[in-house]
Amino acid sequence: MTRNRFTSPGYGENERRMAEALVELEARRLEEDKDEICDCKEGMFPGLTRRGVLAGTASLGGAMFAAGAARAQDGQAPPGAELNPVPDDPTSVQGRPVLDDGGYGSRSQFESEVRWRYPTASVQSSWSMTPLASGHGIITPSGLHFERHHAGIPTIDPLEHELILHGMVDEPMRFTMDDLMRLPSVSRIHFIECSGNTLTEWEEPTLKTVQGTHGLTSTSEWTGVPLSTVLEIAGLRDGAAWILAEGADAAVMTRSVTVDKALDDAILAYAQNGEALRPEQGYPLRLLLPGFEGNMQIKWLRRLEVSDMPFMTREETSKYTDLMPDGTARQFTFEMDAKSVITFPSGAMKLPRPGYYEVTGIAWSGRGRVTRVEVSADGGESWQEAELQEPVLSRCHTRFRLPWVWTGEEAVLQSRVTDETGYIQPTLEELVAVRGTSSVYHLNAIQSWHVAGNGEVTNVHS
Ligand code: CO
Repeated sequence: MTRNRFTSPGYGENERRMAEALVELEARRLEEDKDEICDCKEGMFPGLTRRGVLAGTASLGGAMFAAGAARAQDGQAPPGAELNPVPDDPTSVQGRPVLDDGGYGSRSQFESEVRWRYPTASVQSSWSMTPLASGHGIITPSGLHFERHHAGIPTIDPLEHELILHGMVDEPMRFTMDDLMRLPSVSRIHFIECSGNTLTEWEEPTLKTVQGTHGLTSTSEWTGVPLSTVLEIAGLRDGAAWILAEGADAAVMTRSVTVDKALDDAILAYAQNGEALRPEQGYPLRLLLPGFEGNMQIKWLRRLEVSDMPFMTREETSKYTDLMPDGTARQFTFEMDAKSVITFPSGAMKLPRPGYYEVTGIAWSGRGRVTRVEVSADGGESWQEAELQEPVLSRCHTRFRLPWVWTGEEAVLQSRVTDETGYIQPTLEELVAVRGTSSVYHLNAIQSWHVAGNGEVTNVHS
């Protein structure tokens, strides 16, 4: 870095350090992976790749095969995989014994995508970003769900864990995990997005990849007890309007939630994608507030206190408020505004040659369903409606796709989402006109990817 990119007053010392760290880490990872990325770029195109042509296949996995194979030669399996010998002809030898993995599966040794942890000063207070460019459909694998921790990941014995509910209730209560798991449950598929997602992009295009610019959002199926159920059991007193949610991590993370949201669709979640929550997602219990900013979805949930007022915790006064141009700050900006991003093609990729491509990405809204995603290849001059993959769910990532023939001319790819409230994702110019550039949080503007004549894709403001 030759100069400070994050000069606006919305960035405190911490935010500035973190934003700089993101830039440095991404640059380092791109440099380290340079050889693999060159191969991946070729391999990303079914039927068009050198390898695909040679092998006569149309395998999307070709690129990752190359990357994984390189690692396997080093005698190291990628995280989440086990290393096995690769026979010349898998039809001529018996495969591995069933349950050789101990009974809990692992991914292929040829798949190597991982979250990036950004090199913040503290390894306990940090972020990890979902590799959105390699995602398929709408579900994020649990092992690739983004994380934001303020004091590391606690190890909690579920037999010892309790949730306490007190304050303005008829009867204060204490629930063990067993108590909660005996109650009627629901499963719902929802995204979570950190409101700091994209925070480096207010003033100029900064990070190079979609993992860097947009990787603080992920989607899972969450299972648990509706929060309304335990509130009904305890009985809300007249005037109850806010609930403090408190985590059992070393940060003792606390946020105030409205009773309206609690009674609407909030979930005390103990499972994710069909199994218990991952420790880094709040094992054994987290609060799930569909569509609300990630910081409020309190992990390792241990206490709920009902009140007639918000609690004004650090995370809703000093942090997670949005500085406006007139010097005031927006507070309690809970809902994540509608947002979309093209994940293919996206920054640091290279289109090998003109021809057919499928443009794809994800769109979401904290206020309900996505109703429409449009894609532009000319920087917003003209738009075409993309196909939405079913199911299209409320407060959930929605996969969109549009066939596109790249002529070899320069192009600027953009996506623009409309949600069921009629809200249309703004351009950065429109957003900045209202919000200025000091908000830090809640940047939901249209993302632009420039495709150069040689096929290189870069992050631009358009
Ligand atoms: Co907010």
